[in-house]
Amino acid sequence: MSDRAKEFPKDFLWGTAVCSHQAEGHNVNSDWWAWEQEGKIDDGTVSGPASDMLNRYPEDFELMESLGYNSFRLSVEWARIEPERGKYSEEALAHYENVMKEMRKRNIKVCLTLYHWVLPKWMADSGGWTNSNSIRWFREYVRRVVYRLYDYVDIWCTLNEPMVPVLASYVGGVFPPEKKNPILAGMVFRNLLRAHSAAAGLIRDAAAARRDSDDPKIGIAMALADVQPVNPDNILDRKLHELMGYFHNEAFLQAMHTGKPFGVGATIPGLKGSFTYIGANYYTRFRLDILQGKKIDRLEDLLYLPEGAETTEMGYEVYPTGFYNVLKSISAYGVPIYVTENGIADSTDEKRPGYILRHLNQVHRAISDGIDVRGYFYWTYIDNFEWKYGFSKKFGLVAMEPGTLNRLPRRSAYLYGKIAKAGKLTPEMAREYAPDVESELWGCADGCV
Ligand code: FCB
Repeated sequence: MSDRAKEFPKDFLWGTAVCSHQAEGHNVNSDWWAWEQEGKIDDGTVSGPASDMLNRYPEDFELMESLGYNSFRLSVEWARIEPERGKYSEEALAHYENVMKEMRKRNIKVCLTLYHWVLPKWMADSGGWTNSNSIRWFREYVRRVVYRLYDYVDIWCTLNEPMVPVLASYVGGVFPPEKKNPILAGMVFRNLLRAHSAAAGLIRDAAAARRDSDDPKIGIAMALADVQPVNPDNILDRKLHELMGYFHNEAFLQAMHTGKPFGVGATIPGLKGSFTYIGANYYTRFRLDILQGKKIDRLEDLLYLPEGAETTEMGYEVYPTGFYNVLKSISAYGVPIYVTENGIADSTDEKRPGYILRHLNQVHRAISDGIDVRGYFYWTYIDNFEWKYGFSKKFGLVAMEPGTLNRLPRRSAYLYGKIAKAGKLTPEMAREYAPDVESELWGCADGCV
């Protein structure tokens, strides 16, 4: 084995991530399910059985264990647990308890998300996060989840990418309920902060009640892009990107840090310092193309891509250095970091091995610089329902056989398993799986291509 290996800390978490609506299937009492039936999905699909993790989770955990993945991030679906207001489903709670037990049996650590964009239909019909009762409703749901599952969960992730419901559902109007209303967006922003704070309080109460000597790990998964101006010499461009970076990356974190939305006005009770780690979801760098006079037909047209940029099937620029930049920037909060998502849509799996190696290389670089990154969850374990894009975007390490939904691990699933088992990246791995990235990671001392 090469001494040029890039080693990760011994207890590093090597996992994959899913959102249950995207992977479990049949989340029939949810707002997304109803919206999908209205024909809103670009490729005409609906989530349907999705990746059928609802039934196949024992087989999935067996596969993860055999591949060497030691952790898994998933969500609980509120719409399953409380399909009607005030009526809690014992069947759903028992299901999630069984899921956790199955993970424990295989020594797979659990990162559990409480809200990953999907609401029960009754809650959405009552105004969703704009309703002033939403926090009370969320608290009642979370109390049941925490009471039932506390002992199985290693990392609590209260909210996934909270700026997405704010921006995509209430400003851009591209996700349900398709509003374009900045006032409502502001209400959603504040209520999600309150919801996070309520959930963090319940988790802490459960820890205290059990006299748990470990401080529970509580955080949110933040969508973090490396936001950079297209033309740094242009002050307007710089300011525009500063504003964009603030709303996209910083506003929520700063509010959790100070206890005040946008740092002003009334403090939200329990919010200040309500996180013990930051979850980082990183996919790309963001540069907005609106000052260069380009025609914008779709949201994606807003993104500036340099000539010859390498892109994913989502149209995102592949930009590993940006990963280091965002990790460095959030390290200023002084809490540990888990990479709660990072991955590539790549139906042929040609780019994925290189993508994983190059991005993990940046995580390694961050750790070597003293940044406290404790785990990495690849998005995603298995091809699944990618929201508005439907099933057309393949992020999975594992593919599914059409028709049977049988699991078909891709090459990259094995590469990631080798990395996880060894706890390091080696030139040999690059040579075998992605020879074109060896020189970027190690130089060419051994005569690589
Ligand atoms: C993230 C979402 C996740 C998935 C990936 C591709 O923003 O959290 O559900 O859609 O993007």
